[in-house]
Amino acid sequence: MKTFPKQVYRQRRDRLRSLVKQGVILFPGNEESAMNYRSNTYRYRQDSSFLYYFGINAPGFHGVMDLDSGEDIIYGDNLTVDDIIWMGEQPLVEELAKRVDVKTVRPTASLSGDLQSIKSSGRAIHILPPYRGDHYLELSKILGVSCEKVNDFISESLIQAVVGMRSVKDAFEIEEMERAVEIAWMMHTTAMRMGFPGNYERELAGTIEGIALSGGGTVSFPVILSMDGQTLHNHDHGNELVKGRLVVNDSGAETEMGYASDITRTFPVGGRFSTKQKEIYEIVLSANVQSIASYKPGITHRESHLLAARIIATGLKDLGLMKGDMDEAVAAGAHALFFPHGLGHMLGLDVHDMEGLGENYVGYDQQTQRSDQFGLAFLRMGRKLQEGFVLTNEPGCYFIPALIDLWQRDKKFESFINYQKVNEYRQFGGVRIEDNVLITPDGCRILGKPIPKRVDEVEETMNS
Ligand code: GLY
Ligand code: MN
Repeated sequence: MKTFPKQVYRQRRDRLRSLVKQGVILFPGNEESAMNYRSNTYRYRQDSSFLYYFGINAPGFHGVMDLDSGEDIIYGDNLTVDDIIWMGEQPLVEELAKRVDVKTVRPTASLSGDLQSIKSSGRAIHILPPYRGDHYLELSKILGVSCEKVNDFISESLIQAVVGMRSVKDAFEIEEMERAVEIAWMMHTTAMRMGFPGNYERELAGTIEGIALSGGGTVSFPVILSMDGQTLHNHDHGNELVKGRLVVNDSGAETEMGYASDITRTFPVGGRFSTKQKEIYEIVLSANVQSIASYKPGITHRESHLLAARIIATGLKDLGLMKGDMDEAVAAGAHALFFPHGLGHMLGLDVHDMEGLGENYVGYDQQTQRSDQFGLAFLRMGRKLQEGFVLTNEPGCYFIPALIDLWQRDKKFESFINYQKVNEYRQFGGVRIEDNVLITPDGCRILGKPIPKRVDEVEETMNS
């Protein structure tokens, strides 16, 4: 089990203590999760905040921080001989605790009693929002309350402190994320080389998932790979590749330590873009390149999103798909017919980093509130950028027949959209291009080894 140097965890907990100040924090680690019967489990995934503060990437542990006494405790049990027969020897709990600089370990059986006496004494117990059904059952047992009452322990001050800390990546984390992008480089260039008629989407998807596993971790989310790229999260891989279509491949790796990459590339089946495909592709590429160039501490991600939207709208106007004033069109939300999602999101231990803690805590604040306009409302990250943030940048352009039909029927934005021309693209699919970007003191840097992105680079990779 790989961990960062032990002082990293100690320093993180000390900082958290200084932010939350009073009471007791409970970080429940994740248990195994059954697929079809108890002992046949999904691949194990530790809770990201537990990993961040307590580092142990295995089931059977809980972390407790007593903010009043300053004591940090790991609750867990050593394996029995029966466990060892099936699963092999594992380090003792004391040994694991030492690796993350925790001095006190206690058996799991005492957790519930310890926390209930803290509760009875009137001290606050802070938890983060649970996101699995079994979390509720377990927390109900540990805290001695009904499942409905578990939510009463969710602590806004803890959420704010954890989001503040996990948003800014340190050098160790950035190194892990570079590794995650390196694995994604292999996933994406391999998929490009397989992008020829006769291959099935599932063969590409399966091969690249294998590459993620070979990297020592897994995929950071189920692979999205399809010629029907107009479906934003298409997990159906049943099509045989045919010439004339584009493939959208949105996939990334998670390292052994749990850090994610999230990359999208779009390539033409057969290895050469048609003129029509190239025209749309270049618009999205320009939105990607120019919006990344806008990143620096202090700019809001909403500004970069709207810049990308204006570039896409202007490109579509040049092709005759939109008309009128593109600043006005974007302000009204007309571009969202083609670009209905956000420019990007935070990335880290979760592919949508910290989304389980609440999207608005992560992406918005007092100064930048979330819009409710169709399209802009899906922007997960709107607030000001800071040094150390890692974000995805993923503009796209899609032709979604159901949405085109609905808007055309409702005569929506007729002064900005040339529906007759748009209908010529009904079979087009979509284009998305996504990079992972670190905010630096005076700008930004794309993480990892560059993954082919320009038209000539993609074509050359496919044909090499
Ligand atoms: N990679 C999928 C997403 O960002 O939603
Ligand atoms: Mn993404």
